[in-house]
Amino acid sequence: MRSVVKTPLMVTGGFRSLAGMNAALQSGALDVVGIARLMAIDPDAPEALLSGRDSNQEVRPISTGIKPIDRMGLMEILWYTRQLKRIVRGGNPNPNESGLWAFLSSVVNIGWGTYRTKRLRA
Ligand SMILES: Cc1cc2nc3c(=O)[nH]c(=O)nc-3n(C[C@H](O)[C@H](O)[C@H](O)COP(=O)(O)O)c2cc1C
Repeated sequence: MRSVVKTPLMVTGGFRSLAGMNAALQSGALDVVGIARLMAIDPDAPEALLSGRDSNQEVRPISTGIKPIDRMGLMEILWYTRQLKRIVRGGNPNPNESGLWAFLSSVVNIGWGTYRTKRLRA
């Protein structure tokens, strides 16, 4: 991409450590490191990284422990969206939230939302 892109190049995805980010920048392959999931569990991560420290949170695979659910491939979006919503509401993300709890609680919330909408329409 570097050879064809003339504007500053930002790459997001898979950056986990300060050393890895610095190595990528120093290689000249990119100009800006983007981080996504880490920000959802540690909104202060950029401050730590820019101060020369790794975040004390770690992006990890999200699983309910129930294979057919995990295979649907929705857990990452569902779980990280819940953490982002906590931040938006003025709270803190919960990096230790169980995948199974997040799934069950989302199913209940969606069910309740559908029930309420139907009652309002009736
Ligand atoms: C909750 C959530 C929502 C996302 N929404 C988008 C999106 O709308 N468009 C997009 O291009 N990528 C989206 N992504 C992917 C991220 O931008 C990013 O490419 C991916 O998480 C890999 O970066 P990371 O390893 O730093 O998390 C989303 C990821 C998550 C976890």
